[in-house]
Amino acid sequence: MAQEDVFKKIVSHCKEYGFVFPSSDIYDGLGAVYDYGQNGVELKNNIKQYWWKSMVLLHDNIVGIDAAVFMHPTVWKASGHVDAFNDPLIDNRDSKKRYRADVLIEDQIAKYEEKIEKEVAKGHKRFKEAFDEAQFRQTNGRVLEIQAKIDALHSRFAKAMEAMDLEELRQIIIDEEIACPISGTRNWTDVRQFNLMFKTEMGSTADGATSIYLRPETAQGIFVNYLNVQKTGRMKLPFGIAQIGKAFRNEIVARQFIFRMREFEQMEMQFFVKPGTEMDWFRKWKDTRMAWHQALGFGAENYRFHDHEKLAHYANAASDIEFRMPFGFKEVEGIHSRTDFDLKQHAQFSGKKIEYFDPEDNQSYTPYVIETSIGVDRMFLSIMCHSYEEEQLEGGDVRTVLHLPAALAPVKLAVLPLVKKDGLPEKAQEIVNELKFHFNCKYEEKDTIGKRYRRQDAIGTPYCITIDHDTLNDNTVTLRDRDTMEQRRVKIDELRAIIEDKVSITSLLKKI
Ligand code: GAP
Repeated sequence: MAQEDVFKKIVSHCKEYGFVFPSSDIYDGLGAVYDYGQNGVELKNNIKQYWWKSMVLLHDNIVGIDAAVFMHPTVWKASGHVDAFNDPLIDNRDSKKRYRADVLIEDQIAKYEEKIEKEVAKGHKRFKEAFDEAQFRQTNGRVLEIQAKIDALHSRFAKAMEAMDLEELRQIIIDEEIACPISGTRNWTDVRQFNLMFKTEMGSTADGATSIYLRPETAQGIFVNYLNVQKTGRMKLPFGIAQIGKAFRNEIVARQFIFRMREFEQMEMQFFVKPGTEMDWFRKWKDTRMAWHQALGFGAENYRFHDHEKLAHYANAASDIEFRMPFGFKEVEGIHSRTDFDLKQHAQFSGKKIEYFDPEDNQSYTPYVIETSIGVDRMFLSIMCHSYEEEQLEGGDVRTVLHLPAALAPVKLAVLPLVKKDGLPEKAQEIVNELKFHFNCKYEEKDTIGKRYRRQDAIGTPYCITIDHDTLNDNTVTLRDRDTMEQRRVKIDELRAIIEDKVSITSLLKKI
C-alpha cells in the first residue's frame, strides 16, 4: 500500500477509535485544530508522563513549572518574536492557495530524495542478495546526478534563508518549476513575511485594552521565571526547568493532520549551564533525548539527527531528532544551544539583573542555555504511525492492531466476561474493581469475544482477560497477548504481578 494511503488510514483510524477528532466537528472542523478523544487523551497523558518523569524524577537538578499562556507583551518583543517570528509566504494566483515558500522548496528536495530511494529500491530488486547499497549510493551515475542537484539546491536555499532573501526564494521556486499542487500552475505572487503569533486584547477597550499574544512557545515562560526558580529552589548550576503546555502559531500551511497545528502542546526543558560548557551539554542532551525516543523500541533505523546548518540568531548549535513518518523523516524534537541570548534580552527589556552568582568562581554571569523542545502532538503522531498495522492472519483474515508500547496504551487490560449471565459479569467487575487502582482497566460485555478482542487490538490494549464458567470454580482466566494473540490460563491472584510491571511508565523509564 502506498505510504500516502497508509497515512489516510491512520487519520481515519484516529477518528473512528476515539483518538483524535477535528475541532468543532459538527461545524465541519476548524483548520489545523484538533480535539483528543477518550483514547487519545489517555495516550497523550501517558506520553506527557513519560517525558515529565524522565526529566523531573530522573534528574535531581531539574524541576518543573506551569507558566500562564498569557504573558506580558514585552516578553515577545524581548524574545524577538514580534519582529522575527515570520514565515515567508507565497500565493498561487489561480488556486488562491497560500504556501510557505521554504516548505515548497523543502518538498522539492524531498522529491529528489525520493527519486534516489526509488533507484536504490530498483537496485535491490535487480541484484537481490548481491546488492551493495552503500557502494551503489556512492557510484551509481543516476544517484550521483540527483544528489548533485540536491546539494546545489540545498546550498542555494540555505543562503536565501540565511539572508531572508525573499526575491531569491521566489526565484528558486520559479527555477525549480514548482507548481501549485491544487491548480497545477506556476502563477506565483511575490514572497512576503507573515508573523505567526495570534494577537488578542486583554481588558475592556474602555479601560484601555492591552494587545497581548497567545504564546508561540512555552520556553519564554521558563526564561522569565529563571530568577524565581533559581532563588526559591536554591538551584545550583547546571540545572534545568521543565514545562508542558499549550502553544499557538498561526501556521500558513497547516497540513498532515496533527503534524502542524495552530494550537498544540510542547514539552520543553531549559538547562542552564556555565558559559563555555554548553557544547558538552548540547552533546549530552542530544544523546539523552535520543535514548528517550529509542527506549520505545521502534528501532534505531527510524530516527536520525538533522544538524542545522542555518542557525537562528540566538543559537550556536542546533539539531533535530527526526522520525520516519509515512511522509518521510520529519522533525519531532529540537535540541538547541541558545547561548545567553534570552536571559540577556529579558534583563535588558525588564531592567532586572538576571544572573547567577557562582560560589566556586566567586563571580556572577548570565548562564547559557541548552533547550530540548518536543511537540506532544508530533510525538503522538509518530507513535500512531509506527504502531498501526493491518496484519494479515492465517485464513485470509486481516486485523487492525495498534502495537503501542504497553506503558503508553490508553487501556492496559480489557476484562471480558464470555457471556452476559451466570455470574460472569459480576466476577469480571470484581476483578476490575481490584485492578483499577493499579492500571487502566476496561470492562466490555457487548458482542462476541472475537469482536471484543478486535476492538481492543484497534485501540492498542496490550492485554485482555476472558472470564468463563471455569473461572467461577478455579479462579483462573484466559490472558490474551495483543501482539502474539497467544492465550494462556492464569490465576486471578497473579494478574497484577504479570501485568503491572509491563504496563508501567517506570518500566519504560528503566530502558532509557
Ligand atoms: N522553543 C523552541 C521551539 O519552539 P520549534 O522547533 O519551533 O522550537 C519545537 O518547536 C517543537 O514543537 C517541534 O520540534 C515540534 O515537535 C513542535 N511544533 C512546533 N510547531 C508545531 C506545530 N505547528 N504543530 C505541532 N507541533 C509543533
